Amino acid sequence: MTTTLALNTNELQNIGTQPTSQALPRAAEFLADLVLDRSFLESHVLPALEGARDAERWYVARRWDALGDSCSLQVFVWPPGTRTMIHDHSSWGAYACAAGTVLEERYERLDDGSRHEHARLREVWQLPWSPRDGASTVQPRDGGINRVGNPYEETAVSVHLYGPRLGDVDGRDYDPSRDYVCDRLED
Ligand SMILES: [Fe+2]
Repeated sequence: MTTTLALNTNELQNIGTQPTSQALPRAAEFLADLVLDRSFLESHVLPALEGARDAERWYVARRWDALGDSCSLQVFVWPPGTRTMIHDHSSWGAYACAAGTVLEERYERLDDGSRHEHARLREVWQLPWSPRDGASTVQPRDGGINRVGNPYEETAVSVHLYGPRLGDVDGRDYDPSRDYVCDRLED
């Protein structure tokens, strides 16, 4: 796929080959810069906002998977009032807000994971993220249980970078109202 944006794919491929501890700060820096880059905003963020006028659900407006086989860069659109399930990923991840504001809730797991489809969660923080706030990072699996959404009145756009998947499943979805967790097979 061709694109008008000169994405620094070398940097993305390098990030994807690093261990998580080294990849995450570089991913965060890459995204924090990208969401302030005028050409990226004009070529991908503003069109995503325009394309979202009638949207009622959040969705991925654009993705670049051909970054070696390591990273996946994705542009998410968040109409007002939308949010994900509480979930994690089988890879590290980082994201930065490119337009509007998104709200992230972060959770930690209180149980030891030994009971099938059982998870007890506790919310540890909530933070709003806007374009000048830098990037949020999540560790794989239990280290990155979160929910992202847009409880505000303006449509938001965020840019996410995911590292290599470390397991067979994409991640897990949680329902803390009944202490439930299950595998998510597709992203
Ligand atoms: Fe996620």
